[in-house]
Amino acid sequence: MADTAAKLATPTDLKSNQASNVAEALNGLLADSYALYLKTKNFHWHVSGPHFRDYHLLFDDQAAQILGTTDQIAERVRKIGSTTLRSISDISRRQSLKDNDQDFVSAKDMLKELRDDNLAMVESLRAAKDLADKAKDNASSAIIDEWTDAAEQRAWFLFEAAQAG
Ligand SMILES: [Fe+2]
Repeated sequence: MADTAAKLATPTDLKSNQASNVAEALNGLLADSYALYLKTKNFHWHVSGPHFRDYHLLFDDQAAQILGTTDQIAERVRKIGSTTLRSISDISRRQSLKDNDQDFVSAKDMLKELRDDNLAMVESLRAAKDLADKAKDNASSAIIDEWTDAAEQRAWFLFEAAQAG
């Protein structure tokens, strides 16, 4: 075990206990990103009703954006000296956002649930940023700002789309 950890140790000057707190938070965010990606795709595939085209396309855009951050999150974890996710079961152990396996979800409920999930992700991002700042991990702190802006934008679009009724 110690041997394996040594083989994957990335050189970093960050204090190891503080950096591993950041890595732990980022791995949680990565798991949530995959969970939210799949839920957003699920809704893209199963949305129904008068605004089908709008919502179908909105969910697809958002899913692509979420998936696009996953590699950045995982690579931040590696750059600060930790290891990251390895499997779907790893995701399910770490995710804090809940899956939605219901047979039918109304379009309105989809918009609300995704908005709430994205806002929960913003909270997790703020917590991760605090840990990054404590660890003097400037690069994680800066890129977390970008992910926060993107999550807030998704929440805004989902909120406004729901207004249309
Ligand atoms: Fe599609």
